[in-house]
Amino acid sequence: MDFKKKMLRDDALEGKTIIVTGGGSGLGMSMTRYFLELGANVVITSRNLEKLKASAKTLEEETGGKCLPVQCDVRHYDEVEHMIEQAHTAFGEVDVLLNNAAGNFISPTERLSANAFDTIIDIVLKGSKNCTLALGKYWIDKKQTNKTVLSIVTTYAWTGSGYVVPSATAKAGVLAMTRSLAVEWAKYGIRFNAIAPGPFPTKGAWDRLLPGDLKEKFDLAKKVPLKRVGDHQELANLAAYLVSDFAHYLNGEVITIDGGEWLKGAGQFNLLEMVTPEMWDQLEEMIRSQKKK
Ligand code: COA
Repeated sequence: MDFKKKMLRDDALEGKTIIVTGGGSGLGMSMTRYFLELGANVVITSRNLEKLKASAKTLEEETGGKCLPVQCDVRHYDEVEHMIEQAHTAFGEVDVLLNNAAGNFISPTERLSANAFDTIIDIVLKGSKNCTLALGKYWIDKKQTNKTVLSIVTTYAWTGSGYVVPSATAKAGVLAMTRSLAVEWAKYGIRFNAIAPGPFPTKGAWDRLLPGDLKEKFDLAKKVPLKRVGDHQELANLAAYLVSDFAHYLNGEVITIDGGEWLKGAGQFNLLEMVTPEMWDQLEEMIRSQKKK
């Protein structure tokens, strides 16, 4: 079994231009790398231009593709419009938007200031809305079709989760926007899908979400039925497929890629996995003897 292999054929994204928000680091950078390898031009955005430029240079050297770094704080609509203009100037047409930029930290909700809550909502929900609305309006106005928006959400977008409440609230909004526009804008030839990744280690998010020795205390691999975390290439394979023309009939879907993690938490009796075979022998005996009474 080799889940780290590249899945699509080499020209799968040939001729496409893709905007990846937050594409200069972490999972965004891994997805960008694969898009470039598959022949796409990619525009990567974030607030930190120096970091972004360094990432673009590395990615171009690694892949031989074209990667344009554009500074853009997705919270500001005018910056998003300007970023899209630069993408058009460089590459002509934009085919794909990947809403990947996010912000998150763990905290009891009562400890959050109103501004702290807003900061996460603004990056995740408002940022995804800004990019989607600006590019969507452009596509519709110019009658450009066969376009697609992919958004990175999370499984707690539908289950909710304590201690990351702003993120859960915002991601739920992004998922609702995805499903709503999948229907409303299908007539304009625009598809919308989402990916809900489970644990995929990245330096930035993991240091922020599991600081100090929390990483050892909460070994996330143990929470996953498949007993491992995800490999970046697995996510890149799925993202590349979803934005490619091979997925043209896939619209309004959210695909979970988490090794079964969230369902394990949801199933009422799943914790019985701790029961040993010897204990099962005793339990079976007890249950059967009760039935006989
Ligand atoms: N606990 C409580 N409040 C916090 C906090 C924490 N750990 N971290 C930040 N805040 C509060 C700040 O105090 C501030 O509120 P205040 O003005 O009332 O004091 C507010 O959040 C904004 O913080 P600031 O640092 O100004 O925001 P920023 O825009 O520079 O940073 C973050 C945004 C907080 C999301 C930052 O962690 C970040 O940029 N992360 C990078 C992306 C990321 O998180 N990726 C992982 C995705 S899973």
